[in-house]
Amino acid sequence: MLASFRRSGQIIKRSSAFGRLSALPVRLCAALLAFAVTARAGAQNPFVNDPNAAKAGEYEFRINCALCHGLGARGGGRGPDLTRAQKKHAHNDAEMFAVISNGIPGTAMPANGTNGQGVGMTDEEIWQIITYIRSQEVKAPANPIGNSAHGRELFYGDANCSLCHMVEGKGGRIGPDLSSVGGSRTREAIIDSVRNPSRRLAWGLSEATKEFPQEYETITVVTADGKQIKGVALNEDNFSVQIMDMNEQIHLLEKDKLRSFRKSRESLMPVYTPELLSDKNLDDIVAFLISVGAK
Ligand code: HEC
Ligand code: HEC
Repeated sequence: MLASFRRSGQIIKRSSAFGRLSALPVRLCAALLAFAVTARAGAQNPFVNDPNAAKAGEYEFRINCALCHGLGARGGGRGPDLTRAQKKHAHNDAEMFAVISNGIPGTAMPANGTNGQGVGMTDEEIWQIITYIRSQEVKAPANPIGNSAHGRELFYGDANCSLCHMVEGKGGRIGPDLSSVGGSRTREAIIDSVRNPSRRLAWGLSEATKEFPQEYETITVVTADGKQIKGVALNEDNFSVQIMDMNEQIHLLEKDKLRSFRKSRESLMPVYTPELLSDKNLDDIVAFLISVGAK
């Protein structure tokens, strides 16, 4: 019975397992469930550091978890950043397995299979997700890479990052504030954002009132009088859109008055190729961001 209960991949199996469970006295039933959960939680992750499992886990994560924890597990409007090595509940793999299986009572963190996402994940899929989360965690490098003082110079100088990004209150506002990015994302993830900005758009997290954060999508509109405006969406609903243009001017526009409206997942951030910004200089900039993020 436990075996069929654990295989939650198929509705029929699972519902028949529930059918049999409900025929048992409630207390025995609860004991069996508790046993099932501790037995599973005590198990070892069979996929530690396995890149293929991490990849499969990333896919599962997008479907089941990104809604709250953000793409890349970097945190979203409703769930914490899971890339921080320091966790509140899930101090090791077994605890993380228990958190994902059972949820965290009294919080928005749902138990496996209760989030309207179908029948829930199998044990194997949960371990894959854990492997993925571990692969995204920020680890302090043994030997810090890069020269952060030089990185700071580049950030505010030749590399032009500060035209669009603020760090510690200084810089532009078109892109996300990068003051905490070094504390919450891995070095590799930051480098990927610079080399391939459009692959994963950052989430705007600034407004606590929004239930879900908005991605930094690029919006291009032509107004009734023929003026083109390009920028990032700050807010959008069915009828209106609020855009910050490249000069940091904010426009509130009614959609039905526009001549055209185009949304794109191509980042406004330029692609920094190695010709534009060498690997060494990028390492220095990332070292700067990590030194700020550690504060
Ligand atoms: C409906 C929103 C929601 C969904 C969906 C969700 N979570 Fe969570 N999760 C939360 C919240 C909120 C917390 C923090 C609870 C608290 O501590 O207050 C949390 C906490 C956690 C923690 C513990 C973090 C720590 O610091 O110990 C882990 C691990 C976790 N979630 C993983 C996942 C995974 C994996 C999925 C997808 C299978 C998922 N969550 C889906 C909202 C969500
Ligand atoms: C022309 C404006 C512009 C310039 C210049 C620019 N960026 Fe960006 N950047 C953006 C925008 C807009 C986003 C949000 C969309 C995205 O994720 O690509 C972004 C996103 C990012 C992110 C992802 C942040 C997150 O929270 O996920 C990082 C990291 C980043 N930029 C670093 C840099 C660095 C380092 C430089 C300089 C080498 C730089 N940017 C130059 C506009 C810019």
